[in-house]
Amino acid sequence: MRAATRGTGGPAVVEVPAPAPAAGQVRIAVAAAAVNPVDLATQDALFGELASAGLGWDVAGTVDAVGAGVDRLAPGDAVFGFRDRLSAPTGSHAELVVLDAAAVAAAPGLDPVRAATVPLNATTGWQGLDRLDLAAGDTILVTGAAGAVGRFTSTLARRRGLRVVAAVRPGSTDRVPAGVEQVVETAPGWPDAVRARIPGGVDGVLDAAGLGAPALDALRAGGRYLSVQPLLPLPAALRGTHVAAVAAYSDATVLTELAKLAVAGELELPPVQRFPLSEVAAAYRRAAQPGRPTAVVLVP
Ligand SMILES: NC(=O)c1ccc[n+]([C@@H]2O[C@H](COP(=O)([O-])OP(=O)(O)OC[C@H]3O[C@@H](n4cnc5c(N)ncnc54)[C@H](OP(=O)(O)O)[C@@H]3O)[C@@H](O)[C@H]2O)c1
Repeated sequence: MRAATRGTGGPAVVEVPAPAPAAGQVRIAVAAAAVNPVDLATQDALFGELASAGLGWDVAGTVDAVGAGVDRLAPGDAVFGFRDRLSAPTGSHAELVVLDAAAVAAAPGLDPVRAATVPLNATTGWQGLDRLDLAAGDTILVTGAAGAVGRFTSTLARRRGLRVVAAVRPGSTDRVPAGVEQVVETAPGWPDAVRARIPGGVDGVLDAAGLGAPALDALRAGGRYLSVQPLLPLPAALRGTHVAAVAAYSDATVLTELAKLAVAGELELPPVQRFPLSEVAAAYRRAAQPGRPTAVVLVP
């Protein structure tokens, strides 16, 4: 099969043996695979932990083979999921990918090209909100709310009854999902604009833009801050705040709920720009550009 692999001038497509599903695993014929920041970091060898990982986490496609003991999924099922283990030398930026069945959910009735943007990024929002454990009526600041994680998080937070303050780069206010209570552009002094609206500061922060200290500055004393960059240092937990990082993991139960929300139109899927797998280097270059209004998706 063809698969993308790390290269010196960008990722390249090579021929590799087709992977076989072991017990408890499924092999997916890839219909679409999003390009996410973790893929760019892997290609650029930014983190030692990612150095030997294959490229591609998110996938939407069709089950084409199952390993022993898998009875929840069968060949022909439309599915989506994501890889949360680094050991496999190839990932979803390929024609076939093998995942643990527990990392995959049925996703019937969804356009795979748009659905491929959901698993990793919406699960991050879901599990991040679980970690923050805010109460209905509380206020959450979501930074990077024009991006993949931030948009899904904002929508999921609203569904949990939270009031959402969205922080975006100046000029990106039109890219936040509906229902956000306040949109703040991250011009100098922006945490004061949040505090002017929410006296004392917000109850929680999900820092999808990785802003660190300024985002923490908009948080009330004793509030909860969550980074989405578990491999980077955390900001200091000032004013009695709780500071932690989320690392999303595949959970078929969460993915199943996300599929239902997407089918019901309650989880808005981003517009996408698709690239053939043969143009993987161009896709990665596009995904690295700031201010993109679209997600980047590879189609084998
Ligand atoms: N921990 C986990 O399990 C996990 C899972 C998925 C992703 N992540 C991480 O989450 C982060 C976001 O991923 P993503 O896929 O959502 O990326 P993305 O789609 O590029 O979104 C990032 C957003 O942050 C915005 N941004 C950047 N600097 C900003 C600033 N100074 N002020 C306001 N907004 C700013 C970007 O603005 P522009 O649109 O203008 O560029 C973009 O909208 C990445 O670091 C990724 O590695 C972590």
